[in-house]
Amino acid sequence: MEESIKTPRHVAVIMDGNGRWAKKNGVSRLTGHNQGMLAMKEIIKKADVMGIKYLTVYAFSTENWKRSQEEVGGIFNLLVKFVGSELAELDENNVKVHILGDYHEKVPAAAVASIDKALETTYDNDGLQFNIALNYGSRAEITRAAERLCRKVEEGIIKAGDVTEELLSRELFTGDENGNIPDPDLIIRTSGEERLSNFLLWQAAYSEFAFTQTLWPDFTPEEFEDIVKEFSSRGRRFGGRN
Ligand code: FPP
Repeated sequence: MEESIKTPRHVAVIMDGNGRWAKKNGVSRLTGHNQGMLAMKEIIKKADVMGIKYLTVYAFSTENWKRSQEEVGGIFNLLVKFVGSELAELDENNVKVHILGDYHEKVPAAAVASIDKALETTYDNDGLQFNIALNYGSRAEITRAAERLCRKVEEGIIKAGDVTEELLSRELFTGDENGNIPDPDLIIRTSGEERLSNFLLWQAAYSEFAFTQTLWPDFTPEEFEDIVKEFSSRGRRFGGRN
């Protein structure tokens, strides 16, 4: 009998290669990011159709502030454009938008307003959860979690000896009062780079990885499906023997 295909619950994506795609096609970096946004829209739809419960994308890292003002502003304008054109459809499809990162800090006001609207509109949805990592860096996330736990100790809410992995994980951006977002089963990185770049360091403890040479704007729903199917055929043991 054919073994049933196990769909991952949580797929995370490092959308890399917009700049190289732009160079290759003789267009501006911002045009590359715009093509990247179009690719992202298609992957959200595909993940939803495939029954994936959580899709996380690395949209803007804490290191991305080092880029030119023009590029940074352009990426946030794309976010505003994305919410403006897609929010109604996301909501209709029962998609819940969620942010990983301190997006109130440094992010332009128009983008914050768009995000707040997307969060509010989709708050009660219980279909695909679309997590956008924005102004996100994993070391800062873990440091912030440690600080939050220390404050709880200072305030006498917990004792230092009470700290467990579970307690710390609740203070991460993936922590949730209704239960944590499950760790990613699969992390995909495009453009041929094979590293995590400060993305989900804690949560990736047992994740499987898939790397493709495809530059993000060229990444198609078909390739996404192929990668997910290949993942589904892998055996995961989480450190155990069976
Ligand atoms: C990495 O490519 C991509 C980014 C830093 C930005 C990702 C942004 C999008 C896909 C735009 C849409 C997203 C939202 C949420 C609106 P790179 O610029 O590092 O590429 P390179 O390594 O080839 O230069």
